Order: sequence, then structure tokens, then C-alpha cells
Amino acid sequence: MQDQQDALEWRAGDVPVSSRFDDPYFSLENGLEETRHVFLAGNGLPARFRSGFHVAELGFGTGLNFLATVQVWRQAALPGVLHFTSFEAYPMGRAAQRRALSRFPDLPVEALEGAPDIRLTIVEGDARATLPHWTGRADAWFLDGFSPAKNPELWQPDLMAQVAQHTAPGGTAATYTAAGFVRRGLAAAGFEVTRAPGFGRKRHMCVARLP
Ligand SMILES: C[S@@+](CC[C@H](N)C(=O)[O-])C[C@H]1O[C@@H](n2cnc3c(N)ncnc32)[C@H](O)[C@@H]1O
Repeated sequence: MQDQQDALEWRAGDVPVSSRFDDPYFSLENGLEETRHVFLAGNGLPARFRSGFHVAELGFGTGLNFLATVQVWRQAALPGVLHFTSFEAYPMGRAAQRRALSRFPDLPVEALEGAPDIRLTIVEGDARATLPHWTGRADAWFLDGFSPAKNPELWQPDLMAQVAQHTAPGGTAATYTAAGFVRRGLAAAGFEVTRAPGFGRKRHMCVARLP
């Protein structure tokens, strides 16, 4: 079996591109700004943070979303811990992760190794198989598969239903895509779904809230 490090190419300097899915892990223009716009602001963060807040994610990838979240969590200076659980089928090697993150020198990369204020859990395996067994519930979801056209299995309605079942009341989800089948899947799962202005050249993204 090919390991994930063999399945990477690099574009625009240090942006990893999955050969398996033929798609970049984050925006070629500015991955960190996209994360802040789509996943943080899209979920009302940092304003909604409180002690014990739980973020869950489909697709850990480089850890960029995780580290951007840790950064604003620390800036918020709240007591207690932040939980971050991410579902990942093809974990990236540490060397590739470091190269991908090297363009964002202000991020607290040491948090990948563990930190007293952060509870990071990476659930390895296909999210379609692992998420139904998860006993947690997230306050905010980052839906960050590769593009729905290239990675449709991570956006299918059954999985969106599992996301809803693992969301706390009043919890939210955000994603960079506004693809119709993704919005319909989230709505069928019980979310109130709205389109919001997307990042950069993307006209729309999608935010969802569980009533
Ligand atoms: C766009 S990347 C995620 C980027 C990441 N959030 C970051 O901050 O770098 C999509 C991720 O989804 C993962 N993935 C694809 N299909 C999956 C599946 N069926 N189950 C779990 N993870 C999957 C890929 O391996 C990849 O790491």
C-alpha cells in the first residue's frame, strides 16, 4: 500500500497536493486566511468559545485548521481546555506536515505534540466507518474534505446525518463549499443551512446550525 507521503506533490512552493485526490490540502493563495474565514468565522469563533468547547473536523490533513484554532483559543485566554477531534483516513507524515506549515511561522506548531490546554484526538480511519462509533458531540464542525467532486465520500448525506447526530444542540458546521448536494445533505440531517460569502475567488461557502 502506498503511504501518504508518497501520495503528495508540492505546488506554489510549500502547498501539499494529494495525488490520491488530485486536490490541494488548502488554498494555494492563503490557506491560513481561508481557515479563519471559513471555519473560524463560519462557526462564530472565537466569540462562542467557552471552557470545554469541542471542535470536530472531517479531514485533519496538515493540522492547519487545528493550529489556527489553537491560536485564537489562546488569544481568547479562557480558563479550561479546548477539545479538538479530527477524523482522518490517510494521516500525513510529520515531515510533510512541517513543510506545509512552514509558511505559517506564527502558528503554535508545538501544540501538535500535546499541550495542557488542548485535548487533541485524531481518529484514524475512514470517517464513514469511525464517526458512527464516536461517543462525543461537537459544538462546531469543520467540514474539510477535498472538493466534493473529488472526494464525494466525505460529503455524502449519510455522513452529514452522522455529523448532525454528533453535534450539540445549537451547534454549528461550516465548509468552504456551497455545493448543492452538500447543502441538501446538511438540511436533510436537520441543520438550518445558509450560504455565506466565500473566501477569495469562491463566491459562496456554507454555514449550518442545528436548531
Ligand atoms: C482538504 S484536506 C484537509 C485539510 C486540513 N483540514 C488541514 O487543516 O490541513 C482533506 C482531508 O480529508 C482526508 N480524507 C479524505 N477522505 C477521507 C475519509 N473518507 N475519511 C477520513 N478522512 C478523509 C484526506 O486524507 C485529507 O487529509
